Amino acid sequence: MAEPIRVVVTGAAGQIAYSLLYSIAKGDVFGKDQPIILVLLDIPPMLPVLDGVVMELQDCALPLLREVIPTDKVEVGFKDIDAAILVGSMPRKEGMERKDLLKANVAIFKTQGAALDKYAKKTVKVLVVGNPANTNCLIASKSAPSIPKENFSCLTRLDHNRASSQVAMRCGVSSDKVKNVIIWGNHSSTQYPDVHHAKVNVHGTETPAYDAVKDETWLRGDFISTVQLRGAAVIKARKLSSAMSAAKAICDHMRDIWFGTKEGEFISMGVYATGNSYGIPEDLIYSFPVEIKNKTWKMVDGLPINDFSRAKMDATAAELVEERDTALDFLSHIFCHLVEDEGKCIYGYTQKVVQL
Ligand SMILES: NC(=O)c1ccc[n+]([C@@H]2O[C@H](COP(=O)([O-])OP(=O)(O)OC[C@H]3O[C@@H](n4cnc5c(N)ncnc54)[C@H](O)[C@@H]3O)[C@@H](O)[C@H]2O)c1
Ligand SMILES: *[C@@H]1O[C@H](CO)[C@@H](O)[C@H](O)[C@H]1NC(C)=O
Ligand SMILES: *[C@@H]1O[C@H](CO)[C@@H](O)[C@H](O)[C@H]1NC(C)=O
Ligand SMILES: *[C@@H]1O[C@H](CO)[C@@H](O)[C@H](O)[C@H]1NC(C)=O
Repeated sequence: MAEPIRVVVTGAAGQIAYSLLYSIAKGDVFGKDQPIILVLLDIPPMLPVLDGVVMELQDCALPLLREVIPTDKVEVGFKDIDAAILVGSMPRKEGMERKDLLKANVAIFKTQGAALDKYAKKTVKVLVVGNPANTNCLIASKSAPSIPKENFSCLTRLDHNRASSQVAMRCGVSSDKVKNVIIWGNHSSTQYPDVHHAKVNVHGTETPAYDAVKDETWLRGDFISTVQLRGAAVIKARKLSSAMSAAKAICDHMRDIWFGTKEGEFISMGVYATGNSYGIPEDLIYSFPVEIKNKTWKMVDGLPINDFSRAKMDATAAELVEERDTALDFLSHIFCHLVEDEGKCIYGYTQKVVQL
């Protein structure tokens, strides 16, 4: 049997992690013959909760799970890591301003990026889930200069899966009969779910989604807004944000990085826009269609883009540019050093030292 790989999940005491950890530990992501050491990172007040999660993982009696390591220290959490799933982030609190929220997240992802840089394997694959996922991913990557920037991505697979599922339900087929939907841009309500290049397998025949659905008004209207606003709809109904479906999407995303996408199929993920053929500004983490082979993704280039799509792709890019510029401004003012003997991370912002 293979040597165990080390996988860290941050925000491990949270609700997404609660659905995610079982799937990872039983082999859904890295393969049924790949032993795993799971590292669970959360903040100090959550350590008692992590102990409960550790007990439950032990009680699952999973043969692939060799060790579970709960910790609140980044130097333990990111040591020799093969795959990092960054779910934990600063949530918006009552009365918290957008800028303060972004500032807190820049500090968190700067620390975690710096820790990845210092302690993880250089081949580590990093998936950022915690919101604002695109910008957090950008900050983490910029803070980890020794790790290839292609090895950082953020999650838009949940939006991708939502879009596939909406089309499948509309056509009365199972979700595996729909392929090549695209999510462009930010993981927010400005994202653009695009089915111009999607195919639906109807009774064994691959049909363009527009022909299979036969309802352009729906595809250009309610379909798009349903996918864009799905997260909010789940919160309204459940009083909690999407967790089961987010965990499933994380598994899909990481499994595709590990094992590749199917021949002739592409998926959506947030990656560096560098060198894209769609006129999206560089130095952004933007969701694009990608194919993956041999643990390396390649953007799907040159798909024809009509005016309808163009406007939506540009709007979501503009939102990300603004957020990036604010975040980079914060980044240049934050100093962060890992205080190893205390096992804590201290962040300073314009002379004021705050502990997050
Ligand atoms: N990209 C996506 O598609 C997508 C989908 C759903 C949710 N999300 C985001 O995922 C994140 C987690 O969602 P959840 O429902 O599990 O939230 P949650 O509040 O249940 O759990 C978050 C956990 O992260 C921990 N945490 C906070 N700061 C941390 C830090 N610096 N280091 C380590 N752990 C830290 C918290 O203590 C908590 O246990 C949120 O930001 C949410 O908005 C993203
Ligand atoms: C981009 O999307 C994230 C995730 O939903 C959101 O938190 C953020 O506010 C969006 N950015 C902007 C500038 O609206
Ligand atoms: C796969 O990637 C590895 C590491 O980058 C490389 O050494 C190897 O040659 C690649 N294999 C193929 C078949 O491309
Ligand atoms: C990650 O970096 C390695 C080089 O260390 C590279 O071979 C690999 O293709 C990268 N992975 C992804 C997903 O791009």
